[in-house]
Amino acid sequence: MKIFEPLDINGMVIPNRVLVPAMVTRLSREDGLINQDIIDRYVRYAKGEVGLIVVEAMAIHGAKAGPLLRISDDSFIPGHAELTKQIHDTSDSKVVPQIIHFMKIARSGWRQTLDMLSNEDIGQIVEEFGDAAARAREAGYDGVELHAAHAYTLASSLSRLNARRDEYSGRTLEGRLNMVGKVVANVRKKVGNDFPVGIRMLADEYLRDGYTVKDAKLIALRMAQLSLDYISLSVGGKFEDAVHTPGEILHGYSGYSGERCMPGANHSDMLHVHLADEIKSFINSKGFNTPIVTAGKISSPEHAKMVLAEGKADIVGIARGLLADADWVVKVRDGEEDRIVHCTYCNVCKELDGAHKEVHCFLWPKHARQAPDDLPESDAPIWGVDKGSLEVTLKEGVATLSWSKASGEVSGYDIYRADDNGEVQIIEAVKGKRVVDRSLLAGMPYRYYVRAYNNVGQAGPPSNSIHIEPALPDYAAAIA
Ligand SMILES: Cc1cc2nc3c(=O)[nH]c(=O)nc-3n(C[C@H](O)[C@H](O)[C@H](O)COP(=O)(O)O)c2cc1C
Repeated sequence: MKIFEPLDINGMVIPNRVLVPAMVTRLSREDGLINQDIIDRYVRYAKGEVGLIVVEAMAIHGAKAGPLLRISDDSFIPGHAELTKQIHDTSDSKVVPQIIHFMKIARSGWRQTLDMLSNEDIGQIVEEFGDAAARAREAGYDGVELHAAHAYTLASSLSRLNARRDEYSGRTLEGRLNMVGKVVANVRKKVGNDFPVGIRMLADEYLRDGYTVKDAKLIALRMAQLSLDYISLSVGGKFEDAVHTPGEILHGYSGYSGERCMPGANHSDMLHVHLADEIKSFINSKGFNTPIVTAGKISSPEHAKMVLAEGKADIVGIARGLLADADWVVKVRDGEEDRIVHCTYCNVCKELDGAHKEVHCFLWPKHARQAPDDLPESDAPIWGVDKGSLEVTLKEGVATLSWSKASGEVSGYDIYRADDNGEVQIIEAVKGKRVVDRSLLAGMPYRYYVRAYNNVGQAGPPSNSIHIEPALPDYAAAIA
């Protein structure tokens, strides 16, 4: 099974094809130091045997940024060394930091843009990336990832909206690539050729007049020509369409491009895989085999296996899915897919990040600061004799489901629905005993049941099933 085929990335052998992409945790303080909470968060992924752990974006420079990790001078190295040691002592998971440079933003909504930087500023950023990568190597990381995605400096250089008109000009593709090219050259100079260097870039900016996959294919090709060791694809997450709340820091994920970057429940699963497929086929056709990582609502094992089996990407990135269940890999490997706690893409984590509050998952037990430990011997919740007494009331296209409490240790309830006599899917997970489904199309049959799960994802038996078939609206009568 390809998902468990190791992959050698310039000497870094990842034991499986699952990567947890960078996810800011807001567990660091303003000092930017690695602390015990950060160590616990990432060691938990190592316990779950995730192939490649990308540690959240960390600043290569000293700019103020609230609670964000730093790797901007040598005093940060010991903390990172402790983190890498503990991860390596835990499992074969490999770990790289995502290193980031960002420009200034103010509460007034003002933000610095690329054209405001002098050539000396850019020279300094090139230096800072190299120095931070060297620190990553010294701290025992297995490689390093350059952040050239979303709203940050390198992505602003690659953007079609780059307003510079000099050697870093946004008017030409080469001008847009210039800064990243220099950064990669300096990183290589500082870490050598035998240290894996990956990059995260956008497959589509999802902005009006921004770049799309047409440019992304060429940008990725240049990244391959620069001998980068992997290319991790994201989309959107830009400041240009961010929604500014007066007095608050601009959040790069608050506009539509941000919605695409961390797509919520109303988006389709695997929505960005086609972009990875197009980019991968293109660079392969030019003779490059640089591994491609895709991410975006992949958390069903079936989907992950399909993406890899069909060769649409070499590695699957699962961000919120692994936040919800750090043991995803182990459960898939051990044939315990049924025990996976499935992310519902409610985006509570995204909101916490935006508000600079500690990021946790809504599906974890109440007040937990980390994913709960897996305790396979614990008992799944069960229904009483009533089998949950699931009831559904239907009114004006809205189905309201309610049921009785399951017994045992209950962390939440998964709501299953089969549409039009098709496959059953989890449509929602809730903590309470009621849910409202507003997404019905009248004229189709639906079947529901509910399963209670405990805090390690063990689900009990299905409740009683209920069928409904909302009647088609009589539009003719309505206008008569
Ligand atoms: C709370 C949160 C923080 C994130 N922080 C980063 C980050 O530091 N760097 C990054 O490249 N992407 C970041 N992302 C985006 C994710 O890496 C990922 O691309 C996105 O969530 C889509 O993948 P998913 O559908 O598997 O969650 C973050 C996402 C979330 C939800």
